[in-house]
Amino acid sequence: MDKLALHGGRPVRTKPWVSKYMGSEELGAAEKARVLDVLDKKRIFRYLPDGLEASECSALEDEYKSFLGTKYALAVNSGTSALICALVACGVGPGDEVIIPAYTWVATAAAVTMVGAVPVLCEIDASLTLDPVDMAKRITKRTKALIVVHMRGISAAMDEILAVTKQHGIRVIEDAAQANGGTYKGRMLGSIGDVGCFSLQQSKVITTGEGGMLVTDSEELWQRAVLYHDGAGYQFRFTDRKIPAFPGQNYRLTELQAALSLGQLEKMPSILRQTHRNKEKIIKGLQKQPKIHLAPVFGTEHDLGVSLIFYVADGKKARDVAEALTAEGIQAFQVYDGVANDQHIYVNWEFLLAKRDPWGGHYPWSLAPEREIEYSAGTCPKTLALLSRAVQIHLNHLVADEDIDDILDAVAKVATHLL
Ligand SMILES: Cc1ncc(COP(=O)(O)O)c(C=O)c1O
Repeated sequence: MDKLALHGGRPVRTKPWVSKYMGSEELGAAEKARVLDVLDKKRIFRYLPDGLEASECSALEDEYKSFLGTKYALAVNSGTSALICALVACGVGPGDEVIIPAYTWVATAAAVTMVGAVPVLCEIDASLTLDPVDMAKRITKRTKALIVVHMRGISAAMDEILAVTKQHGIRVIEDAAQANGGTYKGRMLGSIGDVGCFSLQQSKVITTGEGGMLVTDSEELWQRAVLYHDGAGYQFRFTDRKIPAFPGQNYRLTELQAALSLGQLEKMPSILRQTHRNKEKIIKGLQKQPKIHLAPVFGTEHDLGVSLIFYVADGKKARDVAEALTAEGIQAFQVYDGVANDQHIYVNWEFLLAKRDPWGGHYPWSLAPEREIEYSAGTCPKTLALLSRAVQIHLNHLVADEDIDDILDAVAKVATHLL
């Protein structure tokens, strides 16, 4: 066996590793034509009364509704604003607690505090998504909602989660920011809970640079989200408003962004066919490695294939393996190394640990001083232990069979030397 590249041996690969981007890699003539068409029409604000129903944003909402099978959709300007609108739609506010996984993008936690509610952290399991058993233990009489995150393109265990939330009357918001186009037992992610939220930021499956989408089957929740996404939402959107007016923000999406995304939605199935196929092959190959651990869900229907994570015995080995793989030409990193300020991991959410609001105080935690909620390394120790054993490699649809061979060869080489 060759020496490790880390120790002066020949690397498995000298070509740079693939980018992690997907939809933006496919931007081309179709998107250009759509954007230029919007410019030609000079109709760049969604809610111009003239042509309201034919707007690009309406078209994007219509496509999402038929794509996901939901009754309602609302285009917004980010995944974060989709989450905030979803929380407001569900009536979550001051005094409420919202359970969120300890491994998600910081926006999930920030959105909860921005509506005046308190995030309650919950462990993930080896699937990288919320652990339903731990989730059940974190429920209190204040728990109003759960944000379940389909992290790294992996579908959370929705049946187990919904069995618990139904029993307690808890609203379920699906954060499918990283799993746009994913499925769970044949159902589209985002369409299973009360409200589904997507991000269209550049590192997502399809992108408008910045953008988001909210979907639901409830007219009432949709109307509440619409009111919140636009302070004057009730002027434009409803012929039949079922709810009283309340103040909103401006989370509107522009026509140019919607047009850009429409072109990509058409390409999404072929992007995802490729990522699924690649991931299946990689997981099959890795299963031959006795010292590499995988969750059963990896490489199945419930895995979009947009990222590769595997586990080794401990944090030291994960660090060494990631370093050695990178030297072999496969860019890899230890998911939680205690040093990098990765904002996907709760111990790096500085504002949360300090319970700090934007005005120097402790809102919304100060609303319920009698229930002391702690955020520390001890809050979700299983999550930290798991992520410290985890090695991550970015994937996208452009990963070719030769790249898959390189991953498997590099892992086999590194495993022989280090595991
Ligand atoms: C899991 C998750 N939730 C929410 C968001 C927020 O989306 P955005 O950046 O579009 O506001 C992201 C984006 O990275 C995410 O990964």
